[in-house]
Formats: sequence, C-alpha cells, structure tokens
Amino acid sequence: MDVDEERACANDRDAPGALTVADPRPGQLAGAAAADQSHSRGAGDEARRSHGDRLHGGRHGRRVGLDRPHRGQHGQPVDDLGLVDLGGCVVGGVRLGHRVTHGDSAGGQDQRASSMTAVMPELVDVFAKARQHERLEQLRAARELDALPYFRVLEGPTLPVVEMEGRRRIMLGSNNYLGLTGDERVRQGAMDAIAKYGTGITGSRFLNGTLDLHVELEHELADWLGTEDALVFTTGHQANIGTLGTILGPGDTVVVDSGDHASILDGCILARAKVRAFRHNRLDRLQRTLERAAGDGGGILVVVDGVFSTEGDVAPLPEIVELCQAHGARLMVDEAHALGVLGARGAGTCELLGVEEQVDLRMATFSKSLASCGGVIAGPADVVEFLRIQARPFIFTASGVPAAIGAALAAVRICRSDEGPPLFSRVLDNARYLHSGLSELGFQVVKPTQLVDGTAVVTPVVPVVVGDDWKAVFLWKELYDAGLFVNVMIHPAVPPAGALLRTSVMATHDHETLDQALEIFSAVKRSFESQHGSLPPDGR
Ligand SMILES: Cc1ncc(COP(=O)(O)O)c(C=O)c1O
Repeated sequence: MDVDEERACANDRDAPGALTVADPRPGQLAGAAAADQSHSRGAGDEARRSHGDRLHGGRHGRRVGLDRPHRGQHGQPVDDLGLVDLGGCVVGGVRLGHRVTHGDSAGGQDQRASSMTAVMPELVDVFAKARQHERLEQLRAARELDALPYFRVLEGPTLPVVEMEGRRRIMLGSNNYLGLTGDERVRQGAMDAIAKYGTGITGSRFLNGTLDLHVELEHELADWLGTEDALVFTTGHQANIGTLGTILGPGDTVVVDSGDHASILDGCILARAKVRAFRHNRLDRLQRTLERAAGDGGGILVVVDGVFSTEGDVAPLPEIVELCQAHGARLMVDEAHALGVLGARGAGTCELLGVEEQVDLRMATFSKSLASCGGVIAGPADVVEFLRIQARPFIFTASGVPAAIGAALAAVRICRSDEGPPLFSRVLDNARYLHSGLSELGFQVVKPTQLVDGTAVVTPVVPVVVGDDWKAVFLWKELYDAGLFVNVMIHPAVPPAGALLRTSVMATHDHETLDQALEIFSAVKRSFESQHGSLPPDGR
C-alpha cells in the first residue's frame, strides 16, 4: 500500500507541556522488558529471540538486548547471522544451526565454515512480535499500578451511571449518545427478535442469514437517510472495509483525512488502492492532494468522518463536496458519531450541513446512538447492489444476530418519531453543559468546530487535553477511583504529546449527575496538580 502522508499530522494543536510526574517512560522500561521476558521462555523461544533481537532490533526498530552475549539458551554459539546452533533442526526444508554445506555434517567441524551460511534463510518466530512489542512494558507498568484504562469491566448496562468493578461510577466514556440502551422499547425490540428468530442465524446474509428483519431495517435506514438503498453489515467496521475493499481497486486512489477512523484505513488496505492522506480538516491540503491524485490514473474516492471520533470535531462537508466535484472525485462520509445526533432528522453531518444530495455514500454504525451492534452503507441502488453481491466482509461472515437487528430497528424508529428531535437536542445541550463546566474549572477542552458562517457545531464528544500519555493515564486513574469513568486516548490514537481524556455525554444524563462529575473533576484536578504540576490551561 502506498501512503502519501503520515497519521502523525492529524492534529494542528500545539503539543502541550512536558511530563512532570514520576515518569515510567517506555524508554526506561525497555531494558527491563528484555530482561523480564528471558525468564519465562523455553529453549526454542530463547533461540528465536536471540536471533530476532540481533537482526531486527525488535519488530518496531527498538534495539533490544544487543548487549547480551551472542549465546543461545544453553550457551550455544550464535553466528553472525544470529542463527543459533540448534543441533540441526530443520525449518522449511533447510537445515539450520550447523554451518553445513549441501549434504551432511559428517565431514565434521571443517565443513562448517561455508559460503552456505551467507544464504541461509533467517529464522523468524511469528510470535516474537507478541513477546517483544514496544507497548509491553507500558502495559506491565500500568497493570502493576492498576492504572490500565482499558478493558475495565462493566457489571450492568451502559447507562448514565454504571456498576463497574464493584462500585457505582458516572459514565462519561460511552457512545450511547441517546441513552437508548436503557430504553424499554429498544430492549423489547431485541427480546421480540429473539422470541421470533432465536439467538443466532448461523449463516451469512448472502447464503442463509437474511431475515425479513434485516430487510426491514435496510428499508427504514434508506428512508431515513433519503438514499435509494442501504445494506446492513454485522458491524460498522465491516461496513467500512466491505465498502472500501470492494468499491476501490488497486488502480484507484483513495483520499483520506488523517483523522479518519481505523476501519477506513483497513478498508483501503483491503482494496490495495493508492492511499493519499491529507492533514486533518485542512481544505488546502485536500485540494493539493486531489490535484496530485488526478495524475494517478484511476478513480478517486474521498473518505472522511462526519464527526471525528476522538476529538468530536466536524468535517467541513460543503467545501469538501465542492472540491470533490471540481476534481471528479466521489465522496463517502462515515456518520458513526453523527447518526441520531446531528441534523433536524438526526440523519447526521450530511443533513446538518445540507449536502445529503451531493454525498455519494454514507456509512453509519448501530453501536453508538442506535444502542446496538451493526453497520450500514447507504447510497445509489446499483452501487449498494454491487456491494450486496461482491463485498467479502458482508458475504463471508455471519449476519447480525436477531437481538442486535431488533434493537437497532426499534432505536431507528424512536429517532424517526416525534421523540427523536428532543433527544438530539438533549444530548447536545448536555455536551454544551459539560464543555462549559470543564472550561470553567480550567481544563483545556477541544472547542466545537466553527463553520464558515460562524456557527459552532457541538457534538456529544467533549475531549480534555492532557498532553503527556502517562499523565493522562494517571489523571484517568484518579478520576476512576473517585467514581468517574472516561476514555483515555494516547499516541498513536492521537499525535505524540497529544493525549486526551475523551468524555462523552448521553441524552439521559441529568444535570445533577453532570454536576457530580464536574465536582469530581474539580477535586481531582486540585490534588493532581499539587502532586504533578499544572495541566494544560483552558485557552478561552
Ligand atoms: C468513525 C467510526 N467508524 C466506524 C466505526 C466502527 O464501527 P463498529 O464499532 O460498529 O464496528 C467506529 C467505531 O468506533 C467509528 O468510531
């Protein structure tokens, strides 16, 4: 795959200040990682590691263990290519370890130094990357401090307040924007679907897994979005990779915003299209990229998130549409964080910004406002039909389970009823409330996107800038211990020194709960800063 620019250009914010906390940085821990890993290995593992370390300096270029003697587990010599004498083990039809020529080692020591050594294939253990990757020590250190913000266990539903690891915590770390996971009608939708269709379909949509419920949901979604057709996938990730991996080919160029969701890049990889990334939300860069793409010789598709998942900012779609039209490019918008939130109908960023007719493909997921699991691509009937019969991540996987489809259908119907618009307003009011509360406390909060006409577009995502990765993790931990759950975004999800606490609200949060959250933020900020120094100040 050919990538034009780096993900690292995702953010224009200045990098916040340097770390001032006691600092278990990866660099300091790397040596310990190498030492630690060597304890629990079998002979084969050790031999492979010796080899891999020397030749590759670790998978990501970290030079681990170079100062160790070139010996295998049992003191065997390791030759200049990093091969350990394993006593003649044969890998891939080539005898490794003995420095032998063709034939056998019967000739003894004399035959060992041979030109064959230079062409022997390297012995690489595919497990090495799991055992030596650069995050290993960070993970171990965070686990030891019980400060790992990931895989925290919920013991009940995702609601404004949750049971999590044995205690009540305010939930500001979900994508349940409308709070519909707790809605009786959505739950009933799932239960009715189980009662009628059972727990699973045990087949793909293509072959033996399409229910009338899937088709009904597709019709409802196409009608809501105002497109000719829609196709329901098992997850949003599959909707992106299935669409991009099918509609693009190796001769095409895909132009992506550097802040796009990972599933978009995964789709581009699957397609083997030429990928040209432009700096996040920079129209001048998009224009330049489109000019370059014109010379590539294939079709051009621009793909952007409507609302960017990490920072909650919005793509300037009218201007992007204009550029696409000027350069003959198609446009696809990922509405994962905008469906059920933005626009008078809740149809997303395209609706809010008045470009529904001009955007060629619209993708969304059911795993956020729709309180379920699944994904959809909506657009022209012939393109959707092509995907229906060609998209491998659609055809070669099991269809969305009845409970997920029944719940999503019930949620879509709530959004489209008279209850929808008040829900959309409430989640955005809550976002404004949290945003101004955090700013007043002196946190640096990412500002809502300003449109060309000066309107600020608020979304449910309210990110607090921290800067240093470890600082963000420790701040997260103090908030967690005080009864508040938020998300932590560290590099490479954000640019280096751009760590964030990603908070997000639901329509069902009341002000009393948000006030409690703000009190926790206030108390934790005071104690955290007294120990670790200032957090980045609010730049209002
Ligand atoms: C912008 C965006 N697109 C796509 C996806 C993938 O959706 P799903 O979680 O349904 O697989 C996500 C999920 O986090 C997302 O944030």
